[in-house]
Amino acid sequence: MNIILLGPPGAGKGTQAARLIERHGMRQLSTGDMLRAAVAAQTPVGLEAKAVMERGELVSDAIVSALIGDELTAMGPDVGAIFDGYPRTAAQAEALDAILAQHGRALDHVIELEVDEDALVERITGRFTCATCGKGYHDTFERPLAEGTCDRCGSHSFKRRPDDNEDTVRTRMAEYRAKTAPILPGYDARGIVSRIDGMAPIDAVTDAIERVLAGA
Ligand code: AP5
Repeated sequence: MNIILLGPPGAGKGTQAARLIERHGMRQLSTGDMLRAAVAAQTPVGLEAKAVMERGELVSDAIVSALIGDELTAMGPDVGAIFDGYPRTAAQAEALDAILAQHGRALDHVIELEVDEDALVERITGRFTCATCGKGYHDTFERPLAEGTCDRCGSHSFKRRPDDNEDTVRTRMAEYRAKTAPILPGYDARGIVSRIDGMAPIDAVTDAIERVLAGA
């Protein structure tokens, strides 16, 4: 199965992708994560992307589509793909169709997480992750069970993203409205879009996604 999780920053794409991986053994292809890894490794792509990401703007279509193509090539043909944060522009949507066709894959579902943008600022500015294993947490909505200790790996080290401040989040949201939301009608025309209330509790969102995947 090949699915796209679509929604503005903080809609819960990464949170839900992590659950789909655990439940279905799918693979998450997050262009945001790939770019952050490139920035950390100071690769040529990372050096080009760093300032763009810190401003909350979009990295070039050619760079992100190449990253996605490389990941799909490295994946086995039988592993399901969850596209998280990609595609984000009409050109990327077109590129994804071509990349999937090259790999003998087709899109099964586009799942749009519908959210209230004002609430997202709180979600994003409260978000942090384990610096060791990457598990995500939130100051209010998802704290570690034992304060200061990662539930998954026991690490005591946590980190926050440099673009998770209010000004940058507003720019990221504007980019979503201007460049990403307009790709939805194309997928609507194919009859593959499901809209889910992303403001519901995390478990309820997961249940709603599972119903879509089960064809219920
Ligand atoms: P990217 O990393 O993709 O960031 P984003 O799209 O802004 O999405 P986020 O990761 O911020 O949010 P999310 O929807 O995954 O939410 P999460 O699950 O963490 O992109 C970063 C940058 O990279 C871009 O700005 C751009 O510069 C560049 N980039 C990336 N892809 C690109 C592309 N294709 N083209 C060009 N440039 C690209 O949830 C947020 C928080 O809310 C968490 O703390 C979570 O615990 C909590 N939460 C989640 N769901 C719920 C819920 N239902 N109720 C309560 N809390 C919840």
